[in-house]
Amino acid sequence: MRTLENFVLRLEPQHQSHAAEMFVVLSDPAIYAFENDPPPSVEFLQMRFARLESAISPDGQEHWLNWVIRLPSSELIGYVQATVSVPGQAAAIAYILHSRYWGRGLASAAVVLMIDELVERYGVTRLNAILKSMNDRSRRLLERMGFVLETGSDNADEPCVADEMRMNRVARI
Ligand SMILES: CC(C)(COP(=O)(O)OP(=O)(O)OC[C@H]1O[C@@H](n2cnc3c(N)ncnc32)[C@H](O)[C@@H]1OP(=O)(O)O)[C@@H](O)C(=O)NCCC(=O)NCCS
Repeated sequence: MRTLENFVLRLEPQHQSHAAEMFVVLSDPAIYAFENDPPPSVEFLQMRFARLESAISPDGQEHWLNWVIRLPSSELIGYVQATVSVPGQAAAIAYILHSRYWGRGLASAAVVLMIDELVERYGVTRLNAILKSMNDRSRRLLERMGFVLETGSDNADEPCVADEMRMNRVARI
């Protein structure tokens, strides 16, 4: 994995040394309005990040790519992540920002930077994201980037659970 940069932010490959800073970011309760829970401790996060440093799934079938998002002012503000099938074709993406940084286009900027890398380096052609149906911010982010809501017949083999939806896009537009 490489560090990615534009004039707004930098994406650093997630490393166990990020655990303390990320613990602060991920302790923001606003992040969990729709799903999941904050990490229990810095040590928990450090062990988790250490396990993920190989960037490959245990069965070797997927790239598990995680980047932390850093501003030029050096603050760490969240992360972006992609699960990429090997060989790269489809990628599932996800993203989280501390709520102090919402509403500024920073999550979008981070996702755009990641998608460029997924296309160039991992050969990704299709993108998807699964989100809770009530997560309007996430939905708006995806819509702005051209993702389209999947209908039941688009992917009948892998239906979403009741309160979730999947949005899809071709990777290069
Ligand atoms: C989902 C999440 C990352 C979206 O963050 P965000 O800051 O709203 O997303 P963006 O970076 O796209 O910013 C969009 C907002 O910035 C504003 N904005 C300002 N400048 C902008 C710019 N240059 N470009 C795009 N948007 C800009 C937009 O108007 C928009 O505000 P609005 O939603 O009030 O209209 C954030 O809400 C989050 O971390 N949520 C918790 C975790 C989560 O739910 N993750 C997704 C799981 S599927």
